[in-house]
Amino acid sequence: MAEFRKLCRLLMMAMVIIGSAKGANGRRYVVGADQGWDTGFNYSEWTSGKAFFVGDSLYFDYFREDHNVVQVDFEGFTTCNITNSIATYTAGRSTVELDREGTFYFVCSLGDHCLEGQRLQVSVLAKPAIPPSPDFLGPSSALNQNVPSSAASLSFAFCFLQFNSFISPPVLVLVIGWFSYLLL
Ligand SMILES: *[C@@H]1O[C@H](CO)[C@@H](O)[C@H](O)[C@H]1NC(C)=O
Ligand SMILES: *[C@@H]1O[C@H](CO)[C@@H](O)[C@H](O)[C@H]1NC(C)=O
Repeated sequence: MAEFRKLCRLLMMAMVIIGSAKGANGRRYVVGADQGWDTGFNYSEWTSGKAFFVGDSLYFDYFREDHNVVQVDFEGFTTCNITNSIATYTAGRSTVELDREGTFYFVCSLGDHCLEGQRLQVSVLAKPAIPPSPDFLGPSSALNQNVPSSAASLSFAFCFLQFNSFISPPVLVLVIGWFSYLLL
């Protein structure tokens, strides 16, 4: 019994962490999918057919020795000139929140990578009142965000029904609040 409770706690903690990590609200797009952020890839092809909304995020995966991610304006994007850069990411794994409507521009500033096509333009739309259906977004558009939510609610319901006595009321309120936030 005690072991089971421990397992439940761990499970719920894991779900909370996963939920927070994915930002609870938006979709996380892995730029370039399996190819990541690299030369020799057509990023306008990658974005075509995808709909990006405020609250979504871009995840750039690249070798930090070979590439970087520089957010620029339209001018910088078209000319591959990063003089007026907005932000620079060099960690190898970089997440950029799409926190406003409008167009975001990214280039790699190393070598001739930008001129060779390592540049990305993403148009971000206001968050729709009703979440877009998966069909509209296309099958490969995003990591599945419903799995953690459903798994979280299931495990929560299970643990709650079985062992609600181990959760103190203030914690319970917090947990329920958090799950409502996650699921709405
Ligand atoms: C990338 O793909 C777009 C859309 O399919 C196309 O218009 C463009 O010419 C391509 N760019 C290159 C460099 O191949
Ligand atoms: C890059 O942009 C800056 C600012 O607009 C400009 O002064 C500079 O000449 C540009 N560099 C090149 C190589 O075009």
